[in-house]
Amino acid sequence: MATQRTLSIIKPDATRRNLTGKINAKFEDAGLRIVAQKRIKLTMEQAGKFYEVHAERPFYGELCEFMASEPVVVQVLEGEDAILKNREVMGATNPADAAPGTIRAEFAESVGENSVHGSDAPDTAAEEIAYFFSGLELVG
Ligand code: CDP
Ligand code: MG
Repeated sequence: MATQRTLSIIKPDATRRNLTGKINAKFEDAGLRIVAQKRIKLTMEQAGKFYEVHAERPFYGELCEFMASEPVVVQVLEGEDAILKNREVMGATNPADAAPGTIRAEFAESVGENSVHGSDAPDTAAEEIAYFFSGLELVG
């Protein structure tokens, strides 16, 4: 096992319902450290570029509109096996399939408005972190 960093986003459905602290507690309880964090409002262009990998999927337009609709909290989580660990804490994409106790089981409203994003692999984690944070903002 190695220390990793992963990119997390608390999505607009969760910031709107004032759930940032409750979600952060789930990360910290799982041993993930929030080593960088900021609250921003994405433009449609920024959301579109972030989710470019899904550009051909039927939900892409709706997803980008949702992500640009209200503020999000972007964050870097650090810990042992942080990428996989974060995916476990998040739960399945569709909250109906998410394991009890996971963020999506407890907080997500639907498969689209599902409270959190998490990187899925080391290469995407590095790209996604660099999309939102400069080296100077990552002090460990
Ligand atoms: O976020 P995650 O990696 O679990 O799922 P994804 O397959 O990478 O999809 C990215 C995001 O697109 C999801 O988190 C949902 O917000 C959205 N999505 C959707 O609206 N409808 C689907 N059928 C699948 C994903
Ligand atoms: Mg994904």
